[in-house]
Amino acid sequence: MPTHKLVIVRHGESTWNQENRFCGWFDADLSEKGVEEAKRGAQAIKEAGLEFDICYTSVLKRAIRTLWIILDGVDQMWVPVVRTWRLNERHYGGLTGLNKAETAAKHGEEQVKIWRRSFDIPPPPMDEQHPYHATISKERRYASLKPGEMPACESLKDTIARALPFWNEQIAPQIKAGKKVLIAAHGNSLRGIVKHLEDSKEAATEQKFLKVSMTRYTDSEEMSTTVQVESCKEVPGTGMSDEAIMELNLPTGIPIVYELDDQLKPIKPMQFLGDEETVRKAMEAVAAQGKAK
Ligand code: 3PG
Repeated sequence: MPTHKLVIVRHGESTWNQENRFCGWFDADLSEKGVEEAKRGAQAIKEAGLEFDICYTSVLKRAIRTLWIILDGVDQMWVPVVRTWRLNERHYGGLTGLNKAETAAKHGEEQVKIWRRSFDIPPPPMDEQHPYHATISKERRYASLKPGEMPACESLKDTIARALPFWNEQIAPQIKAGKKVLIAAHGNSLRGIVKHLEDSKEAATEQKFLKVSMTRYTDSEEMSTTVQVESCKEVPGTGMSDEAIMELNLPTGIPIVYELDDQLKPIKPMQFLGDEETVRKAMEAVAAQGKAK
């Protein structure tokens, strides 16, 4: 059975990640640390010997620059790149620009976790008085969006709903045609793709554990760890429950390899191209952003 390798990577740390602000569709650039993370991501891809035929990214510079740095680092800058707003970060609505820890101190950590991680509860919408409304909604790069496509806020479910048509119509056919694809995007647009891929697996009888496997390609020594996901229900017919996706915090700048069958179902757990300790710390750091200081 022919298999495909898909590589996805969340952009390196942005200046707004560094300041712990809700970023969403605001076009923050990479911080210096984010540039270093992207370079390390490139090195990991190089060591794994991965090559690409086509790359996809959002229209936000933190993802685009991460992709540039990776393609430069693996000497594949000639590979075609497609940019789309459909791979943008989820739109954080009225929370855009706010400090996550201050928001948790004001509204409670539970509420912030719901806004950040629930599957179908959106943050409050961005109204016209919002300081970043004009910067985002009137931006020239979104001029081609049809009426109703420009969000005022998005839940993960909304993010998946606008990313999936692009996945189905553009990315999936390329993978099925044997093209080697790299996607550089965002924490939540990639969580959407991960959920879609995991959901495509055969009916899951039990979803109590999210298995995260890490492979060091350099010395082919394989390590695994299992992250317990609290309060998961049995959800026959779906691969990843809404509760399990809530616990998934994608680390910045660490490439993730998915091996897929010809129907694009994952045949192995996702593999992080990074050492176990670094990946664990990076995931914990993302989760901790919503804690009141
Ligand atoms: C943002 O948009 O603020 C981040 O890139 C993703 O944020 P989250 O981890 O709070 O969803």
